[in-house]
Amino acid sequence: MIENKIHVPIDKNFYEVTIKAGLLSEIGNRLVELGIKSTRKILIVSNQEIANLFGNIVLDNLKENNYSAKIFIIKAGEKFKNISTLNEIYDAAFEYGMERGSLMIALGGGIVGDITGFASATWLRGLDYIQIPTTLLSMVDSSVGGKTGVNHPKGKNLIGAFNQPKAVFIDTDTLKTLPSREFNAGMAEIIKYGIIRDEELFEYLEDEFNLRNIVNLENQSLVKIIKDSVEIKSDIVSEDEKEKGIRAYLNYGHSFGHVIENLCGYGEYLHGEAISIGMRIAGEIAFSKGLWKKEETTRQNNLIKRYGLPIEVPTLNKSDVVRILMGDKKVQEGKMRFILPNKIGKVSIYTDIVESDFLKYFC
Ligand code: GLY
Repeated sequence: MIENKIHVPIDKNFYEVTIKAGLLSEIGNRLVELGIKSTRKILIVSNQEIANLFGNIVLDNLKENNYSAKIFIIKAGEKFKNISTLNEIYDAAFEYGMERGSLMIALGGGIVGDITGFASATWLRGLDYIQIPTTLLSMVDSSVGGKTGVNHPKGKNLIGAFNQPKAVFIDTDTLKTLPSREFNAGMAEIIKYGIIRDEELFEYLEDEFNLRNIVNLENQSLVKIIKDSVEIKSDIVSEDEKEKGIRAYLNYGHSFGHVIENLCGYGEYLHGEAISIGMRIAGEIAFSKGLWKKEETTRQNNLIKRYGLPIEVPTLNKSDVVRILMGDKKVQEGKMRFILPNKIGKVSIYTDIVESDFLKYFC
C-alpha cells in the first residue's frame, strides 16, 4: 500500500504526517524509524470504544519491536475533556513511572488528541507525544498543528498549550468503523479547506464520481482529500504557529459554529455540523457585504448539503449569540474578528462586521 508523507516545518523543527491504509499495525516499526529507543515507556491514551477496536493492533506491534506500553482509558465525550480527566492521565503517568524520556500516544479522535497533547505538554514539564487520529475530523484538523488543551466551565479549550507532536500517523482503514454522521462531520473541515485555500479541492469534492468514491471510502480518494487538507493546514501553521495572523483562516465557520455548539449544548450538533451552519452564515454575510458572489454562496451551501451536513440555523436568543461571540478566544482588543470568503479558495479577516450583519440569521 502506497504511503504519503507531509512534512510539517515549525520553527527549526519538523515532523511528518504519514497517511497509509493499515498503518496501525506498523506503529512500533515507525517508532524505531523515528529513533525512539525501546527503553522509553509508552502510555497510550484512548477511549474504550477505540481501544477495543484498535488497541491490540497497536500494542502487538509495539511489543514486537520490544517497546513496553500500556493503554489508559479516558471517558468519551466533550464533557469529559476537562481538568479532572487530565488529572486521571497525570495519575496514570505517575503510577506507570513515566520519566522525561517517556512517550505518550493519543489514539482516538480530537478529544483524546487534545487532552493527551496537553498532558504531555505539562507532565514533568513536557514529554514527547504522537498523534494517531482515528476520526476524519481529527485526521484533517486537530492532530496537526499542535493546539492542545481542555475545556473550562466557562468555555471550550480555554486551558491549553501549543505543543507539536513528534509524528502523526493516519491509518485510513480506521474510517471503516467510523459512524457515517461522524464521517460527514469530518467532511465539513475538508470543505472548509477548499473554501479557504484550494479551489481545485473544492471542485474535486463537487464532482459526482469523486463524491461517490469518498462516501464509499475508496482509499485513493480518501488519501487525496486528507493529504490536501493536511498540506494546507501544514502550510498555514508553519507560517503562523501561534495564531497571530493567518492561522485564524482555519477558523472559517467556527465563530458561529462555537455559538451553536455552546447554546444548543455540546452533543446536539457535532463540531463539523455546527461549523457547516457557521460557514453558511459566514457565506451569507460575505454575500450581503459584496465580498463574494451569490453563485459562490450557493455552491458552498450545496456542497455542504451534499455531504449530509446541515445548513439550517437553529433559533437562538440574540443576546446569547453576542455574549458567546464576545467571549470567544478570537476577540482581540474587544473587537470580533470574522473570517469571510472573497471567493472559493480565498478568505480574509474582517473586524468591521457589526451585530446587525449577523443577528438577522438567528431569528
Ligand atoms: N483548528 C484550528 C487550528 O488548528 O488552528
